[in-house]
Amino acid sequence: MRIEAVAGDITTEHVDAIVNAANSSLLGGGGVDGAIHAAAGPRLLEACRQLRRTQLPTGLPVGHAVATPGFDLPARWVIHTVGPNRHAGQTDPMRLASCFTASLDVATSVGARTVAFPAVSAGVYGWDVREVARVAVGAVRDWAAGHDEPGVDLVRFVLFSEAALGAFAEALEA
Ligand code: APR
Repeated sequence: MRIEAVAGDITTEHVDAIVNAANSSLLGGGGVDGAIHAAAGPRLLEACRQLRRTQLPTGLPVGHAVATPGFDLPARWVIHTVGPNRHAGQTDPMRLASCFTASLDVATSVGARTVAFPAVSAGVYGWDVREVARVAVGAVRDWAAGHDEPGVDLVRFVLFSEAALGAFAEALEA
C-alpha cells in the first residue's frame, strides 16, 4: 500500500474516497467539512440526515467512520469521521488513530481502493498538526501491516498548508 502526502484541496481529488473531518452531528460545519459539503452539493447533507434518521440517531461517535456517496465530487465516496476535539479535553491519540483505521475499514467495505485524508483534528479541533501527522501515518502503517490483502492500494494525505505538508512529509520519513 502506497502512502503519500501532497498539498491541495481534498474536494478536487480524483480518488475513490475522500475522508471528511466531520463533527458528530454529521450536519456540516466549516473547514474541510464545509468545503466537502459545498463541493458535493445538497444531496450530501440529505444523505447525512438520512443516516441520522436511521443507523446513527445519536450521531457519529469520535473515532468512528461512515460512508456516503460523493454526489457532485470527483470522488465516488465520502467517508465521514469525527476527530477528537482538544478543546473538549479529547487528547487521547488512540481516538485520533481510530479515525484513520476506521476510515480504512469503511473504505475496504465499500471497495474504495484509493483514499484521501485531510489532517483530521488539526484545525478547529485544535490538535498540533505535527502530532496529527505522527498519529495518522503510524495508524495507516499499522493498519496496512495488519492486513495481508489490504483492500486499499493508495492512501494520500491532502494538506491545506505548507506547514501541514511539512509535518506529514517528516512523519513519512520517520
Ligand atoms: N482540503 C484539505 N484540507 C483542508 C481543506 C480542504 N479543502 N479545508 C481545510 N482543510 C484542513 C485544515 O487546514 C486542517 O489542517 O483540514 C484540516 C482539519 O481542519 P478542520 O476542517 O477544521 O477539521 P477538524 O480540526 O477535524 O475540526 C472539525 O470543524 O469544520 C468543522 O464540522 C467540522 O465541527 C467539525 C470541526
